Amino acid sequence: MEGQKALHTEICDLLHIKYPIIQGGMAWVAEHHLAAAVSEAGGLGIIASASATAEIVRNEVRKVKELTDKPFGVNIMLLNPHAPEVAQVIIEEKVPVVTTGAGNPEKFLKDWKAAGVTIIPVVASVALAKRMERSGADALIAEGCEAGGHIGELTTMALIPQIVDAVSIPVIAAGGIGDGRGLAAVIMLGARGAQVGTRFVVANESIVHDNYKKRVISAKDIDSTVTGRSTGHPVRSLRNNMTRNYLKLEEEGKSFEELELLTLGSLRRAVVEGDITEGSVMAGQIAGLISREQSCKEIMEEMTDEACRVIQKGW
Ligand SMILES: Cc1cc2nc3c(=O)[nH]c(=O)nc-3n(C[C@H](O)[C@H](O)[C@H](O)COP(=O)(O)O)c2cc1C
Repeated sequence: MEGQKALHTEICDLLHIKYPIIQGGMAWVAEHHLAAAVSEAGGLGIIASASATAEIVRNEVRKVKELTDKPFGVNIMLLNPHAPEVAQVIIEEKVPVVTTGAGNPEKFLKDWKAAGVTIIPVVASVALAKRMERSGADALIAEGCEAGGHIGELTTMALIPQIVDAVSIPVIAAGGIGDGRGLAAVIMLGARGAQVGTRFVVANESIVHDNYKKRVISAKDIDSTVTGRSTGHPVRSLRNNMTRNYLKLEEEGKSFEELELLTLGSLRRAVVEGDITEGSVMAGQIAGLISREQSCKEIMEEMTDEACRVIQKGW
């Protein structure tokens, strides 16, 4: 069938997965339960290493391997002071895929390449996409500003075709993809897969606090906002007391350091403690479309069945 053919992309071959869907690395959210469930369901599960130490990451990697023998990945945040040791753990533990965020991974690329790790940097501009291709990336995740978490400037709709035209390695789209229509749409834009974050936040296997899941499920289309534009570190999350205070302080011209105090540990507070008033409830604009908790297998099957149908019938 045409739809099924369209969904078997270079990304499936490169990553040895059934469906071209990657679960976004999400700080505090994407740990071994979620990553293993997504990989078992035929996508690529990712462990987010955020600010974790190398030993925590090693432990998470080993736990994923206990739960699945399918491929998975680790997301490394390059601003993490432990990044060099985490980069080493990825090699030692033979992690098949690494996605990189918050910085330039060039200094680790040579060693990862030599170890056979598939390298997929997250980019939000054509310039960075080209640079990562030149450095030897195997594929790219191009993330539009509809996404939850740290974001760039361009929308997924505008960013994907421009990056697809600028590079010859496969591009995976991220930001605002929550169902099969979104998956089909980014394939039409030239992407060879989708990275999905917000929808997996509410998966059964996600360890996120129930308050957080309920908040995402009840979110309306206009419920997300962006803090940190004034500091050059924009973050998308759902509106609450914390974002209101943050935006007020930004308007008053407060410094990066003062603003940071407000968000220090705030994602953990929301994800682990369920404080959705003062914590950071990171989620994308697509939260308004997400209406229930489902297993990763159900999410994956629903998205791919719908994408096949849409590609075949054109709607
Ligand atoms: C709660 C949350 C935490 C995130 N943390 C990270 C992270 O640590 N590293 C990263 O590269 N991206 C992070 N992201 C972005 C996701 O990996 C993914 O690209 C994004 O969620 C895709 O857009 P969507 O939310 O519209 O599906 C995060 C997103 C969310 C919602």
